[in-house]
Formats: sequence, C-alpha cells, structure tokens
Amino acid sequence: MMNAAANALENVLRKGDGQADVRTDVANPASNPEQYADPSREKMKALTWQGANRVQIVDSLKPKILNDNDVIVSVSGSTLCGSDLHLYHGAIMQMQKGDILGHEFCGKVESVGPGIRKVKPGDRVVASFSIACGDCYYCKQKLTTACERTNADELQNMLYGHRTVGILGYSHLTGGFAGGQAEYVRMPYGDFNLLKIPDDVPNEKALYLSDVLCTSYHCVVDTGVKKGDSVAIWGMGPIGLMAAFFCFQKGASRVIGIDQVGWRLEWAKKKLPKIETLDFSQLPKGSSVPTELRKMVDKGVDIALECAAGEYAKSIVHKAELALGMENDTSETINEMILSVKKFGSIGIIGVYTGYTNHFNIGAIMELGIRLIGNGQAPVHKYWEELLDQIRSGELDPTIMLSHRVDIQDLDKVYPIFDKRSEDAQVMKIFIQTRFSDPPAKGLRSSQDSEGLRCGLIICATSSKSAARSAQTQELW
Ligand SMILES: NC(=O)c1ccc[n+]([C@@H]2O[C@H](COP(=O)([O-])OP(=O)(O)OC[C@H]3O[C@@H](n4cnc5c(N)ncnc54)[C@H](O)[C@@H]3O)[C@@H](O)[C@H]2O)c1
Ligand SMILES: [Zn+2]
Ligand SMILES: [Zn+2]
Repeated sequence: MMNAAANALENVLRKGDGQADVRTDVANPASNPEQYADPSREKMKALTWQGANRVQIVDSLKPKILNDNDVIVSVSGSTLCGSDLHLYHGAIMQMQKGDILGHEFCGKVESVGPGIRKVKPGDRVVASFSIACGDCYYCKQKLTTACERTNADELQNMLYGHRTVGILGYSHLTGGFAGGQAEYVRMPYGDFNLLKIPDDVPNEKALYLSDVLCTSYHCVVDTGVKKGDSVAIWGMGPIGLMAAFFCFQKGASRVIGIDQVGWRLEWAKKKLPKIETLDFSQLPKGSSVPTELRKMVDKGVDIALECAAGEYAKSIVHKAELALGMENDTSETINEMILSVKKFGSIGIIGVYTGYTNHFNIGAIMELGIRLIGNGQAPVHKYWEELLDQIRSGELDPTIMLSHRVDIQDLDKVYPIFDKRSEDAQVMKIFIQTRFSDPPAKGLRSSQDSEGLRCGLIICATSSKSAARSAQTQELW
C-alpha cells in the first residue's frame, strides 16, 4: 500500500526529467518496444518484480541506446544481493510491476553510443551498481553514489533533501533503470561505469567488484577500522563476511560476527578462522547481544558495523510498527550497536535503511560521544581498481563467498530460497550464468558439501525439464 501511495505521489511531484541528464524510468525495455527496445526485437530473459514476494523470469526485449553515452552489454555473469531482498519484500518504495531487477553484472560490450570513447565492442567489463556521470561536483571527489545527474526522483528529494545516484534495477526511487539480472543491460555513462576486466581475472572473481567487495571495503574504511581495533559486525551475509575479511586486512585485533543463521556463522568461521561468532538465536535467557559482547570484550568494542538492514525487526513492537507503516526501519540493531561500543566508539551503517525509525537511543549517542556514521550507498568507483589489484595479486579471494552457480532461467526460484537462508540450501552468494557465459573457470574450489547444496536448489525446480537443467547447471564451487 505504501508502495502504491509512493508511486502516486511521485506522479504528482514529477516535473519531467528535471535533475537527470540520462533517460530514466526505463525499467523494462519491453514496456515500450518502439521507444526503448533494439530494432531487431531480439528477446532476452530477465527477472522481473511482480509485487511483494513475487518475481518472475520473463522474455523481455534487448534494450537500445537511448543516450549518446550509453553502452549495451551482453551479460555473462550476474548475481543476487541482500539488497534485492528488500525489493522482493516490498520494503523499498516506488517499485512497479515488470521492473527488471539486479545491480551487479559483468559481460561483454555489445554496442556503444556515439559519445563513448574508452570501451569498445568485445571488451570484457564489470559494471558499477550505481550509474554515475563521472564529472559532477561529487563524482570529481569519487563520491559517486552522490552523483547529481542520473536520478530525477522527486520523492527521494523530498525524503532526504537530496537525491542519490541512479542505481541499476533498484526501483524508481533511484531512477527506474532496468537491472542486471537479464541477458542485456543498457549502461548509461558506460565509459565511467564499466571497468575493463584483465584477461587473467575470471568473471567469477571480477563480477563482485560491481558491489559487494567495494561495499564491504567501503564500510570498513569509511567507519575507520584501524590496527588493533576490536570490531563487531551485525549480519554475516556476503557483506558482513567480506567486511570481516577487510577488518583483518586493516589489522583489527578481534572481529566478532553476529547473526542468527547458524550455518552462516559456521561459514564465516571456516573461511576466516580468526573470527569469533555470536548467534543471537542461542542467547542465554534474559541476555542480549550487547550483554554478551560486553562479556567478550572489556569496555565494549571499538567499532560496530551494521551489515544486516533496517527492515529486520526483532520485537513485536517494531514488527507491528513496521507493518502499520508507523516507521520505515527498526532502531533495534542500531540501539544494540550503541550499547555495545566503547565510549567514543564508532558505528558504521552500510545495511540498507530507508526512512524514519522509532525508539532510537539518541541520548546515548550524545552523552557517550558515539560516532554514528551512515556509510551511504558505496562509491564503487573509489575502490574498484585497488580491489581488482588485490584480486590479481591473490590477496583478495571473492570466491570465499560463493555457494552456487545457477542458470538465469531458474532465478525466480532461487529468490525465495535465498530469502529463507535455509540450512538445507545454504545460499550465500550465487553466480548467475546466461547464454553468454563462459564455462566455469577452472580451479575454483567447492565451498562446502555438494549434496546439501544441490538438494536445496533442485527442490525448487518445478518441471522435470527444469530439474534436469538445474542438475546440469547448478554447479558448485
Ligand atoms: N550501502 C550499500 O552500498 C550496500 C550495498 C550492498 C548491500 N547493502 C546492504 O547490506 C546488507 C547486507 O547485505 P547482504 O548481501 O550480506 O545481505 P543478506 O541478506 O544476505 O545478509 C544479511 C544477514 O543479516 C542477518 N541479520 C538480520 N537481522 C539481524 C540482526 N538483527 N542482527 C544481526 N544479523 C542480522 C541475516 O540473518 C543475514 O544473514 C543489506 O541490507 C544490503 O541491502 C548495502
Ligand atoms: Zn547489492
Ligand atoms: Zn556525477
């Protein structure tokens, strides 16, 4: 209901493409083939939003170049992010039925607009999840998710006093761009938003420069983790896991991962043996996360990182307030963080929060000098070259997150499994292959027991044909 109201309000507010100098609100080229689809009318598979908790793979149409600086990319690798779950749940405003999701992909340049100078057809590239112009006040400082030229949304302007950058596949609140869970994507400002992939880096490693690697790195750097710090991380999904990795890289003395999903905590322990874990579903009666953390670290941790999200309420009060639209995000996690850090400690928020919250412990922030840092949407361009170098040198191995390889055809069945975070399936981070993908890169090792993983995904394949395909394509790492 809030989504419908937000769409209606945007229609009243919208004064045309005012603030954007690229074509926005083309979230599916098939919505108007004459204007948005390639004249060949070539079909492409794409994952579309159909309403809260409903997504569907459809035949859409290959997009066409709409602005001089557009690049059309054929997708050879895509993935699913915890951020997609917020869209899936209907927690983000201004979604429209049929919007193509996905904001992380790599592929090959297919065609370029007349304004493109750097990339050329045939180049292997990875895309930034955000669509930045590369030249405005913010982009010049590499704060590219604050770009002022690619999002015209009026509602966001009203809510935040500013707009964020345009984001691929992430609602009309961030520009209404068709996303990367598709076989082709139109990437505006392609020279700036596509990074060439060197020949020695396989797609299965390069893909994650789109978002998760740069995001977790940004969270750690922006919040100021330094040598000797003790750090607690709320959420041990892919972002929390990689944030833990980067904390150790920056010299943190202790890193404590918090979650209620046992297998994710075990995963973290297996990949990063030095990490300590706290399962909040197993707390002693009457205890709490801050109480346990304060037992583990004298005086509290130096730094707390939010890698979960504002939609995940724990108490009945916040669940009710969220359901009734009395708040947009729970304050529970941030309040836990406030009670867990040392006096004058720092809190970084990279998990997604969208609006207003109730019962927020602002007093403790002021009285104890706690630094509450919104990390923002991660400015990928600031970090992706540095992290690519780390991948090439072997210092950073993105495959520690990888659990499954799935066919784009099956992606709508993977969403609910990823959402449940079930023990059976153990979906952590997937690699989505398309008809343009290379065979799996050699030498990547399986992350865990193969049978368990296979079951999880094959169960969801509805037809026997699909099940057979799943058996062939949903390989393990
Ligand atoms: N700011 C950015 O640029 C950016 C980019 C990518 C992702 N994100 C956000 O980062 C967050 C994490 O992403 P992900 O892909 O790892 O997501 P994910 O959904 O796979 O993982 C989130 C984890 O948090 C855990 N969790 C939920 N409530 C919790 C709580 N109260 N305390 C501790 N743990 C809790 C869940 O069990 C889950 O394992 C998401 O909100 C995502 O939208 C932000
Ligand atoms: Zn993401
Ligand atoms: Zn810009």
